[in-house]
Amino acid sequence: MKHVHKILVVVYSASGYTKRSASIIENKLIGMGYEVYLHILSKESKDINVANYDFMFIGSPTYDRGKTPKPMLNFLKKTLKEDKVTGMTCAVFGNGETQWGNYCKAVDEITYHLKKYGNRIVNQVRIEQNPVNDYQIEAIENFVVEALRRN
Ligand SMILES: Cc1cc2nc3c(=O)[nH]c(=O)nc-3n(C[C@H](O)[C@H](O)[C@H](O)COP(=O)(O)O)c2cc1C
Repeated sequence: MKHVHKILVVVYSASGYTKRSASIIENKLIGMGYEVYLHILSKESKDINVANYDFMFIGSPTYDRGKTPKPMLNFLKKTLKEDKVTGMTCAVFGNGETQWGNYCKAVDEITYHLKKYGNRIVNQVRIEQNPVNDYQIEAIENFVVEALRRN
């Protein structure tokens, strides 16, 4: 197990559901005693240097027949192609809705890109709509605990 000091949580969310997942992750990590930085992607968000962190949680919703939203794709492009971040331990989360098909496909796409550039994915979770039920919150918290256990 590598020693983790600083954890980055990166999220894009259009209507707020994935942001709620990110907040649950952030709170769990703080409760476990980690130093956490939550970075919300938007048109106004500043660039960050992912290499300054030891571990990255990264999450996005899926829209338009399985697509990963542009702000997330732009973040991955900058982080992987420009900043050449590699060797980072990551856990990927995503919110979606089964009724649309291509359920939470952004989780697979983010995983694909990170792995392609030599980053390690230790856990994934897919969340239906808005995580407000206890069993959903518990699933997200378990995802966090298990991700760090596999670090
Ligand atoms: C136009 C539209 C297309 C969608 N397409 C998908 C999809 O292909 N796969 C999926 O899992 N969810 C799909 N969804 C559901 C959203 O991903 C889901 O509501 C998600 O929780 C929204 O997250 P956000 O609030 O963080 O933006 C779609 C929703 C809309 C409105």
